[in-house]
Amino acid sequence: MTRFPGETWIVGCGKMAGAMLAGWRRAGVDLGAVIAIRPSGTPVEGVTTVTSLPPGSPAFVLLGIKPQKLDEVAPALAKRLNSKTILVSILAGVEHASLSHRFPTAGHIIRAMPNLPVSEGRGIVALFDRDPHDARSVTDALFATLGTVVRTQSEAELAAIGSLAGAGPAYVARFVAALAKAGVERGLDPALADRLAIETVLGTVAMAAARDEDMESIVRRVASPNGTTEAGLAILDADLDRLIARTLEAASRRGAELADAARIE
Ligand SMILES: NC(=O)c1ccc[n+]([C@@H]2O[C@H](COP(=O)([O-])OP(=O)(O)OC[C@H]3O[C@@H](n4cnc5c(N)ncnc54)[C@H](OP(=O)(O)O)[C@@H]3O)[C@@H](O)[C@H]2O)c1
Repeated sequence: MTRFPGETWIVGCGKMAGAMLAGWRRAGVDLGAVIAIRPSGTPVEGVTTVTSLPPGSPAFVLLGIKPQKLDEVAPALAKRLNSKTILVSILAGVEHASLSHRFPTAGHIIRAMPNLPVSEGRGIVALFDRDPHDARSVTDALFATLGTVVRTQSEAELAAIGSLAGAGPAYVARFVAALAKAGVERGLDPALADRLAIETVLGTVAMAAARDEDMESIVRRVASPNGTTEAGLAILDADLDRLIARTLEAASRRGAELADAARIE
């Protein structure tokens, strides 16, 4: 059974850290040593939930707060860490150096960029740390239960993955919703249009994964020359690449702003 390395604090257990916890629960990871810390005290299934830092020192910390809360949380948390503590931050933008500065007592600091489907074991977890260390084997085993683990070589790569995969579920959800909405405009019942849009996206990616098929091959298999799909693609293709590129660019820009805000000169 996969285990945490000892007492584990999830500091900030909202949408993203909560999804990771759900993924670990689903994978049968032992959650006996896990404490969720959130000011609201809203209970988190399967773990002890408290409103402020408990006594003692954790072996593992998952930092799941918003970047804007870092300076509120860091001073008290830093006092509780020691040279054996592994601290994993999922904060978008906030760089390794900014974390090291605030948590000088932590043994290892790892940046992780997850996405929401970790709750189903189908997520992405991109990782960045400064040096190879023993803690990696512990964290690799834990993150592997959540989906695809990508070890990055630079924080720029981590940021790029964040703008694609971290934010990606929201972009995909918007595409599915737009597909359904256009179906309703063609006269379909809204509930049916929703179901069709979801199943079409799910079916397409499941088929691509099962056949290891590239996207262009799928396009070719659906769109016959001068057919209905090709007529639709003539509209979609006119702007889609540019639109998505600008979307990721805007997310990256915001990430850079968050990095700047957390940097200590
Ligand atoms: N959402 C995503 O898809 C996603 C993807 C990748 C990375 N991230 C990163 O994940 C982090 C959290 O995002 P989120 O979307 O999960 O936000 P969220 O749902 O708002 O969660 C934030 C959590 O922080 C807690 N919190 C606030 N102040 C605190 C304090 N002083 N001490 C301890 N906990 C405190 C909140 O407590 P309560 O629950 O009591 O309000 C909540 O549990 C962000 O840094 C974001 O960049 C998010």
